[in-house]
Amino acid sequence: MQTINNGWEFTEQWTDAFCSGENSGSIRAVRIPHTVKELPLHYIDSSSYQMISGYRKKLMIPETLSGRRLFLQFDGAAHIATVYVNGKELTTHRNGYTGFRVEFTKEARFGGENLIAVRLDSTENPAIPPFGFMIDYLTYGGIYRSVYFEDRNSVYIKDAYVMTPSPKEARIVFQLDGIKSVKGTDSGSQNENVLSDKDMQGKASDGCSFLIKAELLDKNGSCLTDASLIPDEQSGKGELRLSSDQILPWSPEDPVLYTMKLSLYQNEELLDTLEKTVGFRTISLTENEILINGKPVFLHGLNRHQCWPYVGYAVPEKLQREDARILQEELRLNAVRTSHYPQSHDFLDECDRRGILVFTEIPGWQHIGDSEEWKEQCIKNVEEMVIQYRHHPSVIMWGVRINESQDDDELYKMTNAKAHRLDPMRPTSGVRYLEKSSLLEDIYSYNDFSHTGKNPGAKQKKDVTPDMKKPLLISESNGHMFPTKSFDTWERRQEHALRHARVLDAAMADGEHAGCFEWCMFDYPTHKDFGSGDRTCYHGVTDMFRNPKTAAAAHASQSDGAPVLEISSSMDIGDYPGGQIGDVYAFTNADEIHLYKNDRFVSAFGPDKKTWAGLSHPPILIDDFIGNLLKTEEHMPDSEAALIRDCLGAAGKYGMANLPVSYQAKLGFAMLRYRLSFSDGYRLYGKYVGNWGGEATRWRFDAIKNGKTIASVTKMPSAKLHLHAEASHTALAEGETYDMAAVRIRILDENNNTASYAQLPVSFSVSGALELVGSKLAAAEGGMTGTYVRTTGETGEGTLTISAE
Ligand code: GAL
Repeated sequence: MQTINNGWEFTEQWTDAFCSGENSGSIRAVRIPHTVKELPLHYIDSSSYQMISGYRKKLMIPETLSGRRLFLQFDGAAHIATVYVNGKELTTHRNGYTGFRVEFTKEARFGGENLIAVRLDSTENPAIPPFGFMIDYLTYGGIYRSVYFEDRNSVYIKDAYVMTPSPKEARIVFQLDGIKSVKGTDSGSQNENVLSDKDMQGKASDGCSFLIKAELLDKNGSCLTDASLIPDEQSGKGELRLSSDQILPWSPEDPVLYTMKLSLYQNEELLDTLEKTVGFRTISLTENEILINGKPVFLHGLNRHQCWPYVGYAVPEKLQREDARILQEELRLNAVRTSHYPQSHDFLDECDRRGILVFTEIPGWQHIGDSEEWKEQCIKNVEEMVIQYRHHPSVIMWGVRINESQDDDELYKMTNAKAHRLDPMRPTSGVRYLEKSSLLEDIYSYNDFSHTGKNPGAKQKKDVTPDMKKPLLISESNGHMFPTKSFDTWERRQEHALRHARVLDAAMADGEHAGCFEWCMFDYPTHKDFGSGDRTCYHGVTDMFRNPKTAAAAHASQSDGAPVLEISSSMDIGDYPGGQIGDVYAFTNADEIHLYKNDRFVSAFGPDKKTWAGLSHPPILIDDFIGNLLKTEEHMPDSEAALIRDCLGAAGKYGMANLPVSYQAKLGFAMLRYRLSFSDGYRLYGKYVGNWGGEATRWRFDAIKNGKTIASVTKMPSAKLHLHAEASHTALAEGETYDMAAVRIRILDENNNTASYAQLPVSFSVSGALELVGSKLAAAEGGMTGTYVRTTGETGEGTLTISAE
C-alpha cells in the first residue's frame, strides 16, 4: 500500500465542478493530514470548521497496472466523505473516526492521469453519530489521517484476522476476494465479516488451484513457523492454525510483536500478500479483574482525545506516537481509553509497541439518535471499529455503547452481538454514568464522579453494578468535578492532584475495581455548552500542549523507575489566604522526604499507608516546617521545642486570629512556663511561620529512596527566569507526508521550577526548512506553552527561535 498524502488541492466550498477538475473559487495546495480550518487556542467557534469542503488529487496510473485491481483507502475523513474518481461518484462513508476503502478499477484510466476528489461534509450532521445533541469536545473537519493507493491482483486477500487463543497459538481467519471473476464462484461478498459461523469450519475444497500460506515472522523477519491451506472456493474464506513453543507472549511489560505474513498462490505463482501485526496474548475476566495471559493487570489509565492546538485532529504519525510515549514515559500509565471514538492507527501501533492497554469505543456522546439511519450507522461503526482495530494487541476491550447514553437494550444487544461475532477474543464494555443500568456487556464501565474532595474517592461496587460477577471499571472521574488550569493557584492545583490520587487510591484499595481511567490526559477545546467560558475544558492532568500540571505527578509517582518528585506548593505565603500555606504534598515514588530550610534539616516525612491503602506511592504530607529547628537553631530543650513547635505550627495552619482554644491555652502555658515575652513570640513567629525579613527562605525537599537522595527540589522566591524548550524530536523526516514536531515550552526559575505565574508572551519565528504551525505569539499560561513546526518538503536545517522578554 502506498500513501498518497502529498499533492492535494483543497477548497472550503465544494462544487460539483471541483470534482471534474474545474478551477473556480479559492483552491489551495495541501498535504494530508489536513484540517479544514486552523483554529485559535481559546474561544473557538465550533461553526468555523463546519463546512462542505473539497479535496482532489491527480493520480498517474501506469499502463503496467492494467489487469490489477485498484483501491483507495482513507484512514480518517471527518465526517461524511463522498469519493469521486474521474467524475464518477463511488462511495459515501459516514463516520469520521474509522477508515474506508473503495475500489476504482472500472473507473480508472490506465496509462493516464486520474482525478480523485472527495466531498467532505464536516458539519454536525444529526443523521450520524456522534451528532444530534450536545458534545463535550470539538469534532473538527478534514482528511486528517493518511490516504493510500493500492493495486492488487484480481484475486487477493481481502482481510485476515489473527486470533491468539493462547500465548503460543494463532488462528488466522482470512477472506479472499475475486475468485468469482476467475473461477465463476461466489467469493468476496460485500460483507466484510470474516467470521461468520460457516467460515469457522475452514473446509478445503478439492481441485481449488489456490493455496494460502501463513508465516509467522519475528522482528528480524525470520520465520518461526508456517502453515498452508487450500481455501474454500465458494466463500473465499478459510482458517489456518499455527503454534510454536518459540513464540513469546505480548504483555504490558514485554510487548513482543510478530508479523503474520499471508501469501496467496495459484499453481505456485505468488498472487498476493497481506501482513498483519500480531501480539500473542489472551484476555480473560474474573469477578473483579482483567487478566492478560492469565495474570491480573490493574488498568491505570487516563482518557485521551485526539486533538492538538491549532490543527485539531490533523497531525502526522510522530505526534500520534508522541502521545503514547507521554502516557507511558511521563505519566507512567499502563492504559488509555480512546474517548470517545477510535483513534489513529499510528497511536495504536505505538501502544502495541509499548504495551499500553487500550479501551477503544464507538463515536458518540450521551445521545442516541431516533432515526433508523442513525442506529444503523451506530451498528456499522461497531463493525468498522472491530474489523479495523482487532489486529492491535494493545486493544483489550470494545466500547459498544454510546458514551454515557441511556439504556437501549434493543440497540445494545445488536452492538454487543456484532462485536462478539467479529471478535470472539475480546470482552465488550460500554461507558455509563448510570448506576445499575442494563448490563449486556462483559465489563461494567462507570464514570464515577462521586468524589467531592471530602468523601471517599469512589463508590462501592455493590452500589454501582447490577452484576457483582462481572468486573467493574472506573471509566472517568474528576474532570468537570474540579476543572483546574495550569494558571490556577497552587492550592487548587494541589487539590486537583489529590483528587486524582484519591479516586485512584479508592479504586486500587477495594479489590473490586479492575481499573481506573481518570478524566483526562490534556485540556481540550469544546462546544459553547461546556468548558470555562473560553470553550476549553481544563480537565487535563496536562495542558493542551501536554505540559504537566501537578496532577500529572499524582499518576506518574505511582510507578517505580525514574525518580518522580513534585512539590505542590511554591512555599510563598503570599499566595495563600491569610498567609497560611497549610498542608503541602510531595508526589513522589521515593520512600520519604527530607525537608531542609536554608540547608538546615527540618524534618522527615513518609507516606501514610493507612489513609492511602491503595496507592503504591501515596502523596506524602508535609505539614511541619519547624521540625527540629527550635532545638538546633534556638537551642531549646526537647519539651520546650515540642510545645512551641506545636503552637507555631497551629499558628501557621489556622492563623493567629483563628487559633483554636486548645492552642491558645497551650501558647499561654508555654509563654509562662518558658518566660517568653510577646516580642520573643513575635520573633519566633516571623522566623518560623511567616518566614519574612532576613534572608530569603530556601526550602529544599530531598526525595529519599533506600537511604539515598534520588531527587531534590528547591523552592525559594526567584526573580531569575529562563526559557526551557523541549522538542518531541529534532531530526524531522519527510516520509509519507510532512513531519511535525511539538515543542513544549516552560518558563523556569533559577531552581528549574516552572514559574507558574510568569504568564509572559512568547514569540516564535522559523527559518530554513521549517514552517510554523499556529500562532507566532502565545502567552505562557501557568508559565507553560508550546508550538509546532513542520517540514516544508525541503532538505536542510531549519531553526525555530523562541523568545520572551
Ligand atoms: C463526562 C463525559 C466526558 C467529559 C467529562 C468531563 O460526562 O463522558 O466526555 O465531558 O464528563 O468531566
